[in-house]
Amino acid sequence: MDFVTDLETLQTTALEALSAVATPEALEAWRIEYLGSKGKVKAAMAAIKDIPKEQKGAYGKTANGMKQALTAAFDEKKPTVAAAGPKGPIEDITLPGRAPRVGRPHIITQTINEITDIFGRMGFDVVYGPEVEDEQHNFIDLNIPERHPARDPLENFYIDIKAMLRSQTSTVQIRTMETSQPPIRVVAPGRVYRPDTVDATHSFMFHQFEGLFVDEGVTMVNLRTCVDQFCKAYFGEEIVTRFRPSFFPFTEPSAEVDVLFHMPNGETKWIEIGGCGMVDPNVFGAVNIDPERYTGWAFGFGIERLVMRKHNIPDIRTLYESDVRFLHQF
Ligand code: DAH
Repeated sequence: MDFVTDLETLQTTALEALSAVATPEALEAWRIEYLGSKGKVKAAMAAIKDIPKEQKGAYGKTANGMKQALTAAFDEKKPTVAAAGPKGPIEDITLPGRAPRVGRPHIITQTINEITDIFGRMGFDVVYGPEVEDEQHNFIDLNIPERHPARDPLENFYIDIKAMLRSQTSTVQIRTMETSQPPIRVVAPGRVYRPDTVDATHSFMFHQFEGLFVDEGVTMVNLRTCVDQFCKAYFGEEIVTRFRPSFFPFTEPSAEVDVLFHMPNGETKWIEIGGCGMVDPNVFGAVNIDPERYTGWAFGFGIERLVMRKHNIPDIRTLYESDVRFLHQF
């Protein structure tokens, strides 16, 4: 028996098998079969103990040579198989393309942009104030006395004894008048927070925008016109508005603004969109604007109110749920 020839046959078979390998899986199978810990090379080397003495030397040498040759051939093959990678399905270039999903601003953001555009055309600047506020700006300078129900700690989000989340954008009136003298013409959109129980028309966070106009000779007629013009620009020329006498600590006289809507069921209904009035002299006093020389008006409207009426949205919660099926409509 010529054991050395057996080894040479094994090597030839192994190399032929290796040259036929085309995938990483087949290569691994080959490695296990020949070079693995229970593979044929290992077995051939272990067999040396049974080889007759005269052939042992030649056998050992050939076995080592085979091991080196197969290992080298394996190492050489490996990168070519890996680089080839799996062959994917062939692309059908005649298929129609998929349109990319284009993002867009949220309807609240779109509305804020629309509102600030409308007021921009009337000569108003856009200003912003912080959402974390203090009692000085949220209440005291707005002439809201200590015992006023709006100051009940249960009606507000207090962070600590000094800081709170603002409950109204009226704070931005104060911040604006603290740092500038008339003529002032600003609109201030933003988030406000109140611990209301969430339902179809209430949320613990919502948006308002505040308007403020201070100059010599500013009148309520001017306010009435401006509010009406805004509503016509936002809802359409045919919209009807009214002022209803009301009370706010920071305006005197004060009014609530109602807009007449045609509901989907055919009824018409007055819906309140916010409050307004002539800036109270006490507020001017708090920010060092001379109430003898200047008059001014202010308003604060709920943005969700406007959006929900214009787009017939029955539930405020849908505005915050980030459901793209809903948001995509706007
Ligand atoms: N801040 C009031 C609220 O949140 C709304 C308001 C009423 C704002 C009258 C004003 C105003 O500027 O003059 O209910």
